[in-house]
Amino acid sequence: MKQRILLIIGGGIAAYKCLDLIRRLRERGYSVRTIMTKAAEQFVTPLAVGAISNERVFTDLFNLDDEREIGHIRLARDSDLIVVAPATADLLAKMAHGLANDLATSVLLATDKPVLAAPAMNPRMWLNRATQRNVTQLKSDGIHILGPAVGEMAERGEAGPGRLVEVPELVAKIESLLARHDITARPLAGRQVLITSGPTHEPIDPVRYLANRSSGKQGYAIAAAAAKLGADVTLVSGPVTLADPAGVKVVRVVTAAEMLEAVTQSLPADIAIFAAAVADWRVAKPKSEKWKKSANAEPPALKLTENADILKTIAQRSKGRPSLVIGFAAETEDVIAHAKKKLKSKGADWIVANDVSPETGVMGGDRNTVHIITRDGVEDWSEMDKSDVAEKLMARAAAHLSQNAAAAE
Ligand code: CTP
Repeated sequence: MKQRILLIIGGGIAAYKCLDLIRRLRERGYSVRTIMTKAAEQFVTPLAVGAISNERVFTDLFNLDDEREIGHIRLARDSDLIVVAPATADLLAKMAHGLANDLATSVLLATDKPVLAAPAMNPRMWLNRATQRNVTQLKSDGIHILGPAVGEMAERGEAGPGRLVEVPELVAKIESLLARHDITARPLAGRQVLITSGPTHEPIDPVRYLANRSSGKQGYAIAAAAAKLGADVTLVSGPVTLADPAGVKVVRVVTAAEMLEAVTQSLPADIAIFAAAVADWRVAKPKSEKWKKSANAEPPALKLTENADILKTIAQRSKGRPSLVIGFAAETEDVIAHAKKKLKSKGADWIVANDVSPETGVMGGDRNTVHIITRDGVEDWSEMDKSDVAEKLMARAAAHLSQNAAAAE
């Protein structure tokens, strides 16, 4: 089926390039609908855009005819990709803050589709801290940003980063995003994936706690990878400093007990992945007031009690067990032997085992060397970025589910 692009034209001198962009996209068989901001109409006319796109051009949030015919919510959903070009400093700021005071921004706020923004503005506006802050925010919200290119500006004597990227570059990016978000590339569409991640903090008193060095990076990368494959993802996260992955429901917890509760509440799931470094023990009776030193007294001895094993609890459920349960084994010696034991004792389907000795730099680092232990054997993966481990793991999990579904037919 012909893929649909919704092009939002912002008000900048580079808006004229959109005519060429629309022409080239149509040559490639895409249909292009456009929304023009009020400012864009100062640079190109809706008449020219409509003639080139051969589609109606939308300009007004409160146009009754448009609203009756298609409506801004449908406009937001009825496309495979939204492209904002040129994305002015003003549009980027509105997007970053979730404003919705015209048709373009309302559609951007209402959409569930991937969005690509190609900024174009004066270099000083681009380099301004406010714009940079907005762009960082948009990237962490999952907005794809292309450019700006560096070069001469329309204003005499001005040069630097701020030019709209050239049209062929924009077309190439659009094609690659459309391929990536193609429904056939979303094998986990309609599947529920539940992931635990990060450390847990177990209180000693109101200001002190027991913790571990887990950064949560691997679990967050897995959540992002699952979302990319189309899954509905719930990420139950212990205390970390990472931003929420785009398109993922994040439930923040502190203790192991809260994590178990949140996991149980988030079921059912097709796939459950336990990447959290859950504290094995908690302080039996945390103090409700700060524990004070007293002269001559011995240092306190902490009495610990064992936390519930979340992975084991879920893997051994007789009813509502996820079809694929994946655990992690973070070890500092005899990695494979320990992981094999955990596969059995916990009742997991797969264990992702890794060496977390300090010299490996895995804890807190960006790279990981893992082994996948299943009932059929051990697969050794070479060292790679945590995001690559995540993508490979989720692709394997998706293939496993579809094989199971095919076998059941
Ligand atoms: N796990 C869990 N709940 C716990 C402890 C561990 O869900 N209370 C999960 C982890 O998320 C991981 C797997 O169990 O997927 C193994 O965790 P790990 O800490 O390596 O193993 P432990 O069972 O704690 O064993 P040990 O600390 O003795 O190695």
